[in-house]
Amino acid sequence: MNIDAAVAKIEDIPTISTNFAEILRVTSLEKTSVRDLSRIIYSDQAIATKIIKMANSAYYGFTEQVRDIDRAIVILGFDEIRSIAIALSVFDSIYLKKGGTYYNRLRSWNHSLLCGFGAKTLADSCGNKQDSGLSLFVGGLIHDIGKVFMDRYFLKEFTQILQLVEQEGMATESAERKILKFDHGVLAGKVLEKWKFPPQLINMVLYHHHPEHAKVDQERTGLIFLADLMCHQLGYSGFVHEPKPDVEDIFDSDIMKLIRNNGLPLTPEKITKCLKKMEGYIAKIKKSPQGSLPI
Ligand SMILES: [Fe+2]
Ligand SMILES: [Fe+2]
Repeated sequence: MNIDAAVAKIEDIPTISTNFAEILRVTSLEKTSVRDLSRIIYSDQAIATKIIKMANSAYYGFTEQVRDIDRAIVILGFDEIRSIAIALSVFDSIYLKKGGTYYNRLRSWNHSLLCGFGAKTLADSCGNKQDSGLSLFVGGLIHDIGKVFMDRYFLKEFTQILQLVEQEGMATESAERKILKFDHGVLAGKVLEKWKFPPQLINMVLYHHHPEHAKVDQERTGLIFLADLMCHQLGYSGFVHEPKPDVEDIFDSDIMKLIRNNGLPLTPEKITKCLKKMEGYIAKIKKSPQGSLPI
């Protein structure tokens, strides 16, 4: 399939949700105030509640209790809230309600949350002060959003892809390229570009399987790659048939070298500590009533 035709199909925003379309419209304007954004978010109480819950959750680790969207915008920043709002709207409106049945969407959502948590934790442990690890959380949260699009818009092809992974042990991206001629990173990158996401987030999503190809920010894109791998190691991949690497494979990976060569002091000890924190986070997910947080 031609990638531009695929993007055009997904781009048809009004079919996704009015609120989501409104968030995109207002945040892409030159001048948008905190008030404009909070007003739109509040027009969908479900999304507003989820954003407040997320701002108060363990992913961010703030001591102060965030009680409203305006405060969340001040603390997390406009770009971060916009990205969270868009991520939640996409998952909420096109994914949990209307996706296919072959792909376990709750599993995929938990994988995304855990990857965001892991990427942020890794960044914090390396003393990454650039944005206190915040956009890394969102980067992890949306890294596999291309699969969400495939599940929603190219269900027949996506089912064939998952069957190739399941029955022939093929890597997901290879199966995607075989069936659709593009993979989920490229698809998501193109869609997020049209939706005017911040360039550094697009970069992370586009290159999350190949940080070495990223033109900028290789180390932070590498952290998303690594957090993804760590989710797989902990048995929290997005798809049950994806391979589970050994911890030693992570320590010895080329990505570890790439991250260190780009200036982040990541060590096996830090990864081990981060895996422990991710395990604690999984325990929280398991205890929550619907088996997922916070959607
Ligand atoms: Fe992926
Ligand atoms: Fe993933």
